[in-house]
Amino acid sequence: MADTPIPLEVRHITKRFGNAEVLKGLSLKAHKGDVITLIGASGSGKSTFLRCMNLLEQPDEGEVIVHGEEIRFKQTRHGREPADWKQVVRMRAKLSMVFQSFNLWAHMTLLENVIEAPVHVLGKPKKQAITHARQLLERVGLAAHADYYPAQMSGGQQQRGAIARALAMDPEVMLFDEPTSALDPELVGDVLKVMRDLAKEGRTMIVVTHEMAFARDVSSQVIYLHQGRIEEAGPPEQVLNNPHSERLKQFLTPKH
Ligand SMILES: Nc1ncnc2c1ncn2[C@@H]1O[C@H](COP(=O)(O)OP(=O)(O)OP(=O)(O)O)[C@@H](O)[C@H]1O
Ligand SMILES: [Mg+2]
Repeated sequence: MADTPIPLEVRHITKRFGNAEVLKGLSLKAHKGDVITLIGASGSGKSTFLRCMNLLEQPDEGEVIVHGEEIRFKQTRHGREPADWKQVVRMRAKLSMVFQSFNLWAHMTLLENVIEAPVHVLGKPKKQAITHARQLLERVGLAAHADYYPAQMSGGQQQRGAIARALAMDPEVMLFDEPTSALDPELVGDVLKVMRDLAKEGRTMIVVTHEMAFARDVSSQVIYLHQGRIEEAGPPEQVLNNPHSERLKQFLTPKH
């Protein structure tokens, strides 16, 4: 459908920290229903790339286009910044991010966490937000935990809660930065299950992950980053099963 805007496109993203150029002209296009996984060694730029997509980091160069709307930038003494933060707030509501460290608000119950942004950012009526939140908690297996505080839940439960909170915004694209890597191994499976379900139902997702089986099963595209560049990209059966790059072959070889 040519007239449906692409949920997320970034073009030629460059990012420097001081003199170090950590992203060197990265582009990516997420069509509706795409699950794009970003893999690569520590320090290759995965998180920075993801953070540039929703402007938690400001790219020094390049374009960010959300649902057909291009973010406007201006040059300031401190570098490049969005020209209109209202535009950024609007686009962030379309790109929900789930972090490695859960980031639920500690002073709110799980239910309060989930309704916070829909009520205060989207202006959704509270009653409606609560009904939706309860459905989402049910979906991630936390219906019984609505009134728990984050400290009373396991890491895996908190992370599923964080996914419910992200879903509550009804986002165009979900961004995940190693959502399972802070979890005890026995808690990883439940979180991946929720993410697999989201992929199956056609959610557009961009996922930084070290879970290669997950990447192989759910990705429409796998992108391998090396030192701030896309070294190889393509469908999982090519990138993960039949890589061209020697570095990627090394990366995929089990270390023990
Ligand atoms: N705020 C910052 N200030 C300075 N340098 C930074 C900052 N954030 C990231 N970097 C540098 O940018 C490079 C890419 O970091 P990034 O966190 O994106 O890597 P990553 O691929 O996500 O690694 P990991 O797998 O360890 O999470 C690294 O060299 C890192 O030191
Ligand atoms: Mg990272």
